[in-house]
Amino acid sequence: MYHSKLAALLYAIIPFGLALDPTRLVYQFPGNDTWIENLFVRPSGSLLISLKTTPDVYLIDPLAQNPKPLLIHDFTANTWLSGITSTDASTYYVIGANATWEDPSPTPGSTFIYRIHFPSSSSSPSISIAAHVKDAVFLNGFLMLNPTTLLSSDSTLGVVWAIDITTGASRIVIKDPLFAPTPSNPKIGINGIRLLNSHTLYFANSAQLLLGKVPIHSNGTAVGGAVKIASATPGTYFDDFALDRFGNAFVATASGDSVVKVMRNGSVQVIAGMENTTEIAQPTSAQFGRTEEDSHVLYVTTTGGLKYPIDGHIVVGGQIVAVDTRGAAG
Ligand SMILES: *[C@@H]1O[C@H](CO)[C@@H](O)[C@H](O)[C@H]1NC(C)=O
Ligand SMILES: *[C@@H]1O[C@H](CO)[C@@H](O)[C@H](O)[C@H]1NC(C)=O
Ligand SMILES: *[C@@H]1O[C@H](CO)[C@@H](O)[C@H](O)[C@H]1NC(C)=O
Ligand SMILES: *[C@@H]1O[C@H](CO)[C@@H](O)[C@H](O)[C@H]1NC(C)=O
Ligand SMILES: *[C@@H]1O[C@H](CO)[C@@H](O)[C@H](O)[C@H]1NC(C)=O
Repeated sequence: MYHSKLAALLYAIIPFGLALDPTRLVYQFPGNDTWIENLFVRPSGSLLISLKTTPDVYLIDPLAQNPKPLLIHDFTANTWLSGITSTDASTYYVIGANATWEDPSPTPGSTFIYRIHFPSSSSSPSISIAAHVKDAVFLNGFLMLNPTTLLSSDSTLGVVWAIDITTGASRIVIKDPLFAPTPSNPKIGINGIRLLNSHTLYFANSAQLLLGKVPIHSNGTAVGGAVKIASATPGTYFDDFALDRFGNAFVATASGDSVVKVMRNGSVQVIAGMENTTEIAQPTSAQFGRTEEDSHVLYVTTTGGLKYPIDGHIVVGGQIVAVDTRGAAG
């Protein structure tokens, strides 16, 4: 009795129903043709998002009363954008290439790394080319190794590249069997990548349906072989993900329309969304908020179900969904 009374009381006093429904729609693009591929949370709390259906980066403040995306830049020299990352509060990098979501096979030689620099006290940035990664096939996940070096996963080659953004030079630093695509999914093996404590690279492999990790040196090369942490639930696969400071991963399940928490011991638990619901329609990536107000909130981007329509036929606009992770203990 005590518990149900408490639940009724909480229901009455908690405006957003924290424990009852952990998700809140921050923004949904109009129409049904916007694939949001990746995001980076700025220290100020606003989000930079990159699109795959148009080569655009938008800025949106998820804590605003009525969040609205502001177009930062349209990268017309390419047709899509993938990973986005940052080296400092005013400098961001995004990957552009020529491909479409229907056929994720970038034109050889079309992959560029763009720098987006926000001069102080202005939201209007300057754009430049930081690198032309001529031999990359499909650069996807993206992170900062150190202030001059970025790492990117190549989903089709099954490798990780290191890109020096001061010289534009790039080289393959890790090739591992757990990064490779498969005969049934030859284009998208290794997908999202994140670093824990700068020495452990976590990765998702969409084709091999797994999340794994590999220890790395400070130059990005592997210390040993990669190991598997967990498998995706049948019918879903792992895309990009966020890590908490303990090494738990919060993974976008793509066709699963959900976010799962993968614990360090490999147990997998759905924390938000459900297959064939539009609440989180084909999630692509996730990152935690960075302000005191929202550090427990996981911001999740979606395609609206473009590749995996809800119930096989419903597609909505690309979404940014806020997931309250305080209920996902363990
Ligand atoms: C990439 O696409 C853009 C926009 O259509 C085009 O201008 C550019 O020439 C293409 N680049 C390559 C290498 O195909
Ligand atoms: C990377 O660092 C490791 C450890 O210091 C070293 O053994 C290796 O030769 C370095 N590799 C490259 C390509 O610089
Ligand atoms: C979701 O919908 C698709 C298409 O109708 C169907 O094939 C699939 O089995 C459904 N999944 C679940 C978990 O109901
Ligand atoms: C997308 O929107 C268009 C225009 O409203 C509509 O004709 C089409 O059926 C929609 N497609 C899906 C898959 O929902
Ligand atoms: C993993 O850890 C969680 C949380 O501590 C626990 O609930 C779960 O039973 C563990 N699973 C395995 C397979 O050990």
